[in-house]
Amino acid sequence: MYVEGAIMKYMCTGLGLRAQTGISGLDAMLGGGLPRGRIIMVSGSTGTGKTTLGMQFIYNGVKKFNEPGLYMTFEQDKAKIRSDMSSLGMDLDKLGDKFRLVGGPIATVYRYKKKTGAGFEDILSEVKEIVKEINAKRVVLDPINLFLMLFDDEDERRMALATLSEHLAKLGCVSLLLCEVQEQTMDISRYGFEEFVVDGVLAMYNMNQGQSFLQGITVRKMRGVKHHREIRPYEITDQGIVVYSTQPWLAEDERL
Ligand SMILES: Nc1ncnc2c1ncn2[C@@H]1O[C@H](COP(=O)(O)OP(=O)(O)OP(=O)(O)O)[C@@H](O)[C@H]1O
Ligand SMILES: [Mg+2]
Repeated sequence: MYVEGAIMKYMCTGLGLRAQTGISGLDAMLGGGLPRGRIIMVSGSTGTGKTTLGMQFIYNGVKKFNEPGLYMTFEQDKAKIRSDMSSLGMDLDKLGDKFRLVGGPIATVYRYKKKTGAGFEDILSEVKEIVKEINAKRVVLDPINLFLMLFDDEDERRMALATLSEHLAKLGCVSLLLCEVQEQTMDISRYGFEEFVVDGVLAMYNMNQGQSFLQGITVRKMRGVKHHREIRPYEITDQGIVVYSTQPWLAEDERL
């Protein structure tokens, strides 16, 4: 009876259509998780924790939900990412063949592009091949603005993002496109058009308060999802990002 009830609840709430991030406070803000088959942008200024959040989504996907994941970086050396994530409680070596980390610093990608004549189609093919090979359900591109720098003008960038989004959607994965924005602004994208192309936007903020910075996250948009709209506080801890329902220093027992 219990199992039947649980299945019924699962079907009624539509949670089967959601991919839990495994960050409980964030999943609560989203009413269960991120909508499947959708393209979500995660924007934030430097050090807000975009890479950590993206990797938690992939890591929890494999460890907790048995969903393989692909992480494509255009910024950091892969060895450095592995080492950084281990200090945040994620041992990527333990994910085995359900996880793939590809790419490297943009300069490497750019040189490779110049040398081999590889273009957008080749990056797209690589993503599609790996997704099919490991049966990935989750994809992260980090950061999307560096990927967009590979294109010469605004029209090409728009076309590239639209085409990429279309293909990612067809693959049926939940895709996170991480986006760097300027410090101390309420901007949610670098070029000003990205938020219109994607299905959802999570915005991470560094908010200056007195002598320190407080960090807050909000769901700016999420097509087809009833979600919270307030900015909720979060911290980056030894176990990755923790999102709170209220200020953590005021009420520890109210942590989600
Ligand atoms: N073990 C830890 N405990 C608490 N905070 C940590 C820990 N490890 C890293 N951090 C914090 O997390 C930040 C890095 O987060 P992350 O790389 O995910 O941010 P980002 O938004 O991707 O940054 P970037 O702009 O460099 O891409 C560090 O700058 C540091 O402030
Ligand atoms: Mg980063």
